[in-house]
Amino acid sequence: MPVLLKAAPVAEAIYSGVSKSAEAVKTQAGRPATLATVLVGDDPASQIYVRRKGEMSVKLGLGHQDFKFNSKISQKELLQTVQKLNADGKVDGILVQRPLPKHLNETEVFDLIDPAKDVDCFSPHNVGLLSQGRGTLLPCTPAGILEILKFYKIDVAGKNALVVGRSDIVGKPMALLLLHAHATVSVAHSKTKNLNEYVSQADIVVAAIGRSKFLGSNLSWKEGAVVVDVGMNRSADGKLCGDVDFEAVSSRVAAITPVPGGVGPMTIAMLMVNTVRAAVAREKIAAADC
Ligand code: GUN
Repeated sequence: MPVLLKAAPVAEAIYSGVSKSAEAVKTQAGRPATLATVLVGDDPASQIYVRRKGEMSVKLGLGHQDFKFNSKISQKELLQTVQKLNADGKVDGILVQRPLPKHLNETEVFDLIDPAKDVDCFSPHNVGLLSQGRGTLLPCTPAGILEILKFYKIDVAGKNALVVGRSDIVGKPMALLLLHAHATVSVAHSKTKNLNEYVSQADIVVAAIGRSKFLGSNLSWKEGAVVVDVGMNRSADGKLCGDVDFEAVSSRVAAITPVPGGVGPMTIAMLMVNTVRAAVAREKIAAADC
């Protein structure tokens, strides 16, 4: 059986550091590090995610400002909300939950978020810093994956890492973080012709293509491979499944993240880290990094 790379103990360790740094912010700034969440519409999955982000903020001693809007909100009104949050000195992190309803221009909304409060690391400014290896607010899911690898003592330096998927949120920033961690990185995607060749050489595979069980037993997994599955899909029988066919692949690799309980919880954990980091930077606090 492979080592199961569960997120729970990794997230626990991170939350312990966040609580301590959050306390230092409260003492030194006289107010809590605060996350503002903005939810537009009534998508059930988005509602659950945003609720969890708010609940975790409060549990760790952070402040939470909750903004919910009807799906018919205008672009102008949403932009005004972001501007107001940018100007609010007591707000450290702004998270606008994606996806936004189709009539809204998502890029324009995200581009308006102050980079100092961009806890998702979506802004061109922060992505630029990330590409140069000097980002402080790092993209939550990819940064969480590196924390999993670190926790389970999986060395990245000098390894062949394959990222399957090239989204702006996971695939591309994941490749950059792995590169900064000294891996030799390849990025495959839906148009890649010889995927098996890449998989057969990969010591670490991060699957983030958003297709149920896209990576299966038909591939030649390298002996000792470590597999990180970012996928969160519903299979035909309604069950949650990842981008990797867990049943077929797990017996052939050395370590693998389960779905659910693998990568998912790390996204919220790193969002909490970023919120405290944003507060520490904005208030120029001499707090231990979390
Ligand atoms: N929707 C799904 N995941 C995310 C995320 O990490 N951040 C934001 N803002 N929206 C999302």
